[in-house]
Formats: sequence, structure tokens, C-alpha cells
Amino acid sequence: MAFHSRGGNTRRLAEAIDAGAAEQGASTHLVDIENVTTEDWAILARSDGIFFGSPTHIGGPSASFVAFAEQTSRFQPSAAWADKLAAGFTTSAAMEGGKLGALQFMLALATQHGMLWVGQALRAGWNTSKGSLADLNRLGYRLGSVAQCNADEKPADMKESDVLTAAEHGRRMARLAQKLHGVPAVAEGLR
Ligand SMILES: Cc1cc2nc3c(=O)[nH]c(=O)nc-3n(C[C@H](O)[C@H](O)[C@H](O)COP(=O)(O)O)c2cc1C
Repeated sequence: MAFHSRGGNTRRLAEAIDAGAAEQGASTHLVDIENVTTEDWAILARSDGIFFGSPTHIGGPSASFVAFAEQTSRFQPSAAWADKLAAGFTTSAAMEGGKLGALQFMLALATQHGMLWVGQALRAGWNTSKGSLADLNRLGYRLGSVAQCNADEKPADMKESDVLTAAEHGRRMARLAQKLHGVPAVAEGLR
């Protein structure tokens, strides 16, 4: 998982996804994209799947995430990331707030590398008169996992439904990696 988080909200979502994938038997690794080490690049290179994550900044990914994306262009000529699974997650203060723009950037990054996009399979919640903020996938995103975090609250205040929705995305990624690559490959590294 390669992600940026300035204030901790996106990190909290990353940790939920990570826990979901680990629960499904995947070996996982969190990469801080502002400090990518040589070992981190090596781990990403041998991973079966990579989650990309960023806060939503001005309707798109953060500048740090864009800088990371540009760094990955060196893997394009050899198609080193081709056929890996890819998925995305983001957090923002507003209910929508431009999260779609951030996720679409990550989708474009994945397809630039020939990766296979894994969306959120949970159906949209909170879309009937009986629905509530507690519904899984309350914000109705299928492209990736998202959390809406009030600007005056802390990562610990993140809505449980957003955390649980993200964890399911992690489990889904791990299950698909196992189908594609078999259990031993996943044990080596879904990131
Ligand atoms: C420079 C900047 C730009 C932002 N732009 C948006 C935005 O366009 N829409 C939105 O809803 N929230 C926006 N926010 C709020 C963040 O998306 C939100 O606080 C997010 O959860 C922060 O994640 P982090 O704690 O992982 O850094 C912005 C915050 C910053 C610092």
C-alpha cells in the first residue's frame, strides 16, 4: 500500500484496509510515499497488488501523491507493474468534496502501468428512507474506498461505517490476489 496522509485520516483508512487484507491471509506493507526507501520500491515491485491512497486536496490527490505517481513512471518502459492488482482510497472533509477526482487520478495511474483495477464491491448504503450513516458504503462509492472526515475532528473520530467499508475492500483485494496468483504468491506480498 502506497499512500500519503498529512493529518492522519488517510492513514487511518490505510490501516483499516491493511487489517482487512491481513485478516484474509495477505502479507502487507505500508509505504509512506513522502519517504519511499529502496526497500519500499522493491516490496512494491514484488507485490501482487498495490492500494494507492491520498487525502483529497482541491478536488484531486495531494501534491505529494502526484509527485509519487510521477516517480513511478520509470517502471513503465519495462511494464514492471503490469498485471498487478490496483485499488484506491481517499478521505475528504466534504461529503463529496472532489473525492472522485482523487480516485480517478489513481485509476489513471494504475492503467498507465497496465494494472487491473479492483473497485469497492459493497453496494451503496444510506440510499433509502431506512438507511443511515451507519450503513456500509454510506457514501456510495464503487471506484474506491472513501471516508468523509469532519474538518474539526480527529482520525479517531472517523465514522465506523467508513472504516468497515475500507476493511472489506482490503479483504476483497486479498481474495482476488489469491484467485489470480494462488496462496503462496499472496503470502509473499500483497501490499
Ligand atoms: C490543501 C488542502 C486541500 C483540501 N481540499 C479539500 C477538498 O478539495 N475537498 C474536501 O472535501 N476536503 C479538502 N481538504 C480536507 C482534507 O481532504 C481532509 O481533511 C482529509 O481527510 C485529510 O486527510 P489526512 O488527514 O490524511 O491528511 C483539503 C485539505 C487540505 C490541507
